[in-house]
Amino acid sequence: MADKILIVEDEHITAEDLAEILKGLRYQVTAVVSSGAEAIGEAEQNPPDLVLMDIRIKGEMDGAETAHILRERFDIPVVYLTAHADRETLEHAKRARPLGYIVKPFHESELHASVEIALSKHRHDRSVLSRERHVTDVLGALTTAIISVDEAETVLMMNRAGENLTGWSRQEALGEPARRVFRLADNDLPIAEALQQRSLVEIRDRFLITKNGARKPISGNIAPLRDSSGRPGGAVIMFEAGAGGREDPHLISKTLLEGQANAIEFGRFHIVAASEPMKQVLSFAVRVARSEATTVLLEGESGTGKDLMAQFLHYSSYRRTGPFVAVNCSAIPEALLESELFGREPGAYTDARTQKKGLLEVARGGTLFLDEVGDLSPGVQAKFLRVLEQQSFRRLGGVHDIEVDLRVIAATNRDLSGAVQTGAFRLDLFHRLSVIQIAPPPLRDHPEDILPLANHFVRQHNLRYKAHISGIAPATAKILSAYDWPGNVRELRNVIERAILLEESYILQPGSIQFASRRGPGLERSTTEQAAPRADLSLKNSERNLIVQALEKTGGNKTKAAALLGISRDVLRYRMKQLKLL
Ligand SMILES: Nc1ncnc2c1ncn2[C@@H]1O[C@H](COP(=O)(O)OP(=O)(O)OP(=O)(O)O)[C@@H](O)[C@H]1O
Ligand SMILES: [Mg+2]
Repeated sequence: MADKILIVEDEHITAEDLAEILKGLRYQVTAVVSSGAEAIGEAEQNPPDLVLMDIRIKGEMDGAETAHILRERFDIPVVYLTAHADRETLEHAKRARPLGYIVKPFHESELHASVEIALSKHRHDRSVLSRERHVTDVLGALTTAIISVDEAETVLMMNRAGENLTGWSRQEALGEPARRVFRLADNDLPIAEALQQRSLVEIRDRFLITKNGARKPISGNIAPLRDSSGRPGGAVIMFEAGAGGREDPHLISKTLLEGQANAIEFGRFHIVAASEPMKQVLSFAVRVARSEATTVLLEGESGTGKDLMAQFLHYSSYRRTGPFVAVNCSAIPEALLESELFGREPGAYTDARTQKKGLLEVARGGTLFLDEVGDLSPGVQAKFLRVLEQQSFRRLGGVHDIEVDLRVIAATNRDLSGAVQTGAFRLDLFHRLSVIQIAPPPLRDHPEDILPLANHFVRQHNLRYKAHISGIAPATAKILSAYDWPGNVRELRNVIERAILLEESYILQPGSIQFASRRGPGLERSTTEQAAPRADLSLKNSERNLIVQALEKTGGNKTKAAALLGISRDVLRYRMKQLKLL
C-alpha cells in the first residue's frame, strides 16, 4: 500500500505542485491544508504516515508548533519543507524531532530520497520503541523486583515490583546510589563482589530497609553484566519478599484481623492499624480493593488518611498496573474542571485550538481519585452521573462516545448526606458513589493507634532528617495519648516532625511537643516561649525573632529551620533576605 503523506503549505501553487510530484512518485496524498489546526484535524480523522510541513503557515500556530503536536500526540513524523534555514528557525524546528529539513527550491530526486529515508527511519524507530515497550511491560509484570546499576553503582532501571518493595518510585530512584534505594539492614551490598567474581552473588534472608524505614525480609541475588565488548558493565539486583506471600493483601488482612500485626505493609505503604476500628476498616478496604467494585466513597474528617487509603486501594487492586489519577475538585475552577475531566476537541471553545484528552481517558484501566467530591458544581455532578451510568462519555465538542474503564474513588471530608439534604449534592449521584463506603474514623475514636502511629512517624522522620531519636519518653506518650487530635493523623505526623527537629536528646521529651490547635495540654509552654517579651513587638521583629530561634535550634540548618517554621526553604531564604539575615 502506498505511504500516506499530508501536505501543510499555505502557498496554493507550491502545494499543488508538490502534490503532483508526490502522486507521480506513487505516494498517496491524504490532503493539502494550510494551517496547523487543519493539520491536527487531518491527523485525527485520517492519520498520514508522514507530514511535509512548511514552517511559516496560516493561523495562530506555526509549522514548528504544529509539528511538535503531531509528533507528541499522534506520533506522526514531519519533514520540513521551507525557504528558511536561519539558525533561529532551525532551533525552533528541532523541538518536534523532525526526520528531515528540505530547503526550497529543491529537486524532485532530493524530495523523493528525503521522504523515503524519513519513512524507513520512522518504521525502524517504531519497531525499536515497541520492543522497548515490550521489555518494560515484561519487567513490569514480574513479581521479582529488578534494579539495574552501572559500574559506579548508580541505579539505571527499576521495575514496578522494585518500586513496591523498596518504597522508592522509579523517578526518585534513577540516578541515586544503589545503596540508598536498595538499603540492607547490615549495610553490606555485595555489588563489588559480584563484579569482581564475575559471577552471581546470593543475598539470602537479609533485611531491606524501605524508604519509609520499615524492615522487610528479602532474598535474591546480584548478577554482573557485561557491555558489548565483554567488559564489566554494572550489575542487576533481583530479589523478592523473603517470607513468601507477605505481599498478598488477603494474608495481610488475615494477620491483621487475627491480631498478629499492627500495620499493613504493602509495597511502599505502611498503614498503622493497631486498634480494632482501624483493623476492621483496613480489612474491608483490602476486600474492596480486590473486588470488581467500580465506585468507592471515602468519607472521613480531614487528615484521617483518605488520600492514603485511595492509593492503597489502587495499588492493591488488579488495576495497579494502570494509572492512578487524582483530581482535587475544589482546587480547579468549574469551567476548567469540565475540560480536565472530559477533554475537548479543537474548536470546542473559541480559544481551544488543540484536542485534549480528559482525565477520564488518561485514567483508563486504572483509578480516578476525585478528592473533595462535595465541591463538584451541579453541572459537573449531572455530567459525571451520566458517565457512571452509561460507562461512556464525550469530549467537550466531541461526537464520539468514549468508553470508560476505570474505578472511581471519591473522597469527602464533609457529611455528603447532609449536603444532599440541603440540595448542594445530587441524591442520585450520592447513591451511585456510595454503593461502597469506607469511613476512616477520626483519631480520637481509636486512641489505641496514637502511640503506634507516633512511633511510625518517629522512625520515618528520623530517617528523613538523619536524626538520632530512638523513641518516645513515657511522659511524652501520656501527653500524646491524652490529646484529642482535631487534625487527626496529619496533625500527629506534623507534631512528631516538629518534635524530632526540636529534640536535643535521644528520646522525645514533653518539651518538644507543640500542638498547633489550642486544645492541647502542651500549649502554654510553647506560646510563652514564642511570645517571650522583647523590646520590639512589631510583626517584623517577631518574625525575625522566630526565624533566629529556629535557626539557633537547628544549628543554622535552613532546611530543618524551614520545616520547624512550617514554610518552604525558598520562602525562608526569601524572608531572611528581606529581614537582612542573609
Ligand atoms: N493509618 C495510617 N498509618 C500511617 N499513616 C497514616 C495513616 N493515616 C494517615 N496517615 C498519614 O497521615 C497524613 C494525612 O493523611 P491523608 O492525606 O491521607 O488524609 P486525608 O483524609 O486525605 O485528609 P484531607 O481530607 O485533609 O485531604 C498522610 O501523611 C498519611 O500518610
Ligand atoms: Mg486528602
